[in-house]
Amino acid sequence: MDDRALYELAVKARAFSYSPYSGYRVGAALLAKDGRVFTGCNVENAAYGPSNCAERTAFFKAVSEGATEFEAIAVAGGRKGAAFLDFCPPCGVCRQVMQEFCEPGSFRIIMGNSAGELRALTLGELLPYGFGAENTER
Ligand code: THU
Repeated sequence: MDDRALYELAVKARAFSYSPYSGYRVGAALLAKDGRVFTGCNVENAAYGPSNCAERTAFFKAVSEGATEFEAIAVAGGRKGAAFLDFCPPCGVCRQVMQEFCEPGSFRIIMGNSAGELRALTLGELLPYGFGAENTER
């Protein structure tokens, strides 16, 4: 699946965003190495803290269905009602979740905007010198 097709799935997933508190709607589409795509949206909460980002929703759906190896994730974000989607870089917590399952040098994060531009960066570029499972091995 190419970057644009994955991004379009993220845009579609954004339609399910539950974000009454921030009004910022995000969708994600995560491509597993076995070819499956897991989508997710942000899911907010009145207590704020339990809110979950679109990227983590997609990761947790995937891992809970047996996928643990991934190639890329596409993210589509923008304010509710605004016609314009802008590049939406994953938050630090989501980057750390990616670090748990993905190879920093090859896992790609694809962002897009309403002008039709796509931007792709590796996890290693977004989270240099990340803390991972190998750090906990003795
Ligand atoms: N959010 C995401 O879902 N993904 C991101 O990459 C950035 C932020 C969500 C969290 C919250 O529901 C809203 O966007 C505003 O921060």
